[in-house]
Amino acid sequence: MHLTIQESGVLSGEIPVYGSKNASLPLLAASLLTSEEVILHNIPAIRDLFSMKEIMTSLGATVVRDGNTVSITATTVGTSKISEDTVGALRGSILLLGALLGRNRTVTLPLPGGDIIGARPIDAHMDGFAQLGAHITSRADEVSIDGKDMKAGTVVLKEFSVTATENILLVASTLPGTTVIHIAAAEPHVVALCDLLRAMGATITGDGTHTITIEGNEHLHGAEVTNIPDMLEAGFFILLAAATHSKLTVTNVPVDHLLLFFKKCKEIGIRYEISGTNVTVHPSELRPFKMQVLPYPGIPTDLQAPFAVIATQASGSSLIHDPMYEGRFKHIFELEKMGAKAVVCDPHRVLITGPTALSGKRIPSLDLRSGATLIIAGLIAKGETIIDQAELIGRGYADIVPRLQAIGANIEQHE
Ligand code: EPU
Repeated sequence: MHLTIQESGVLSGEIPVYGSKNASLPLLAASLLTSEEVILHNIPAIRDLFSMKEIMTSLGATVVRDGNTVSITATTVGTSKISEDTVGALRGSILLLGALLGRNRTVTLPLPGGDIIGARPIDAHMDGFAQLGAHITSRADEVSIDGKDMKAGTVVLKEFSVTATENILLVASTLPGTTVIHIAAAEPHVVALCDLLRAMGATITGDGTHTITIEGNEHLHGAEVTNIPDMLEAGFFILLAAATHSKLTVTNVPVDHLLLFFKKCKEIGIRYEISGTNVTVHPSELRPFKMQVLPYPGIPTDLQAPFAVIATQASGSSLIHDPMYEGRFKHIFELEKMGAKAVVCDPHRVLITGPTALSGKRIPSLDLRSGATLIIAGLIAKGETIIDQAELIGRGYADIVPRLQAIGANIEQHE
């Protein structure tokens, strides 16, 4: 699949933010912890979640989608090995470790390989499970975890890992007694998972901070919750509006999840006003900036890439520092083909000097976030931009083409 994009000038109107991808994955995983029905609202129709549904169905769960509501009943959950292909296609399937340990006390999963945005080892997860008494057998291509001796206790994670925190939450919610997770990730999607686990019968405090306490419950029950809006999609649309000098209202924005992001936007000169969950961006003169991404409440690494397009349009040199991932600057090489002036200093830092006029090119979408970023570049570039492998963008953004067309973007999708 590829996208064709023409320079689109100033965009206008309203663009809605959908439900969070990175909250949907742990919410779906948590639904495997009970035999009763779990109903999840505001779950976006994106490829990663179709893959998750496929895996859950293969494990014996009934997963029904009606619009953006997904109902899951996992009367029993199989212990059969999950296929390598599905784990390869979906890094978030790592959350099945915690869910299946919680439900069956045993799991075998093919090892998720490194991907295009860095190695992302799973040691933080294994180390966390081991601290609760899990016996882990790692082979070259898979990991088996025997959780029959797991007990509530203290876990000190080796970094603020989002999915490792979620994995420990999933299993600890089923272990009688008190588990404390230190060095926990504080992302809003971790809190969203805790909200569901509480609704299912676990007692959890401290989520949203780096120390979370869980009183587990062996008999979790069904629940119904509404997913949070996607802060990454919201930030992406706000930066898209700024780069295209548009007056655009982004609706359903989780403003409280983006406090430092908004502060950085102000520093860059992006003019916006907030009214409840609506954010209206006004045409702005962009200033160069220095930005470092960090675990929450820092500016999310997943929003780093679109800032690079902003930097190409700001007058002067901007420095973007991503200390979290090595190898998350591949979009920079594509932006350079389009005319950007950039120096990748090392795997974690890039210096971009603007303003530069971009021109349309045929470029690949390298991963979900960098692919979406190239859409912004295409909208401001002279001539036609063609983005190949655009299905990667569909992993995390639903209806991206019609939503952008509705605000005046000249973008077409081709199968
Ligand atoms: N890291 C640090 N220091 C920390 C925490 C993390 O350097 O204190 C590094 C890790 O070493 C790793 C990277 O940051 O290289 C990400 O670590 P983490 O374990 O938190 O990532 P994850 O749980 O595998 C989730 C999201 C990612 C998102 C990261 C970081 C899901 C399913 N995935 O991954 O989302 O980038 O957290 O916020 O929630 C995406 O949506 O495009 C995506 C890749």
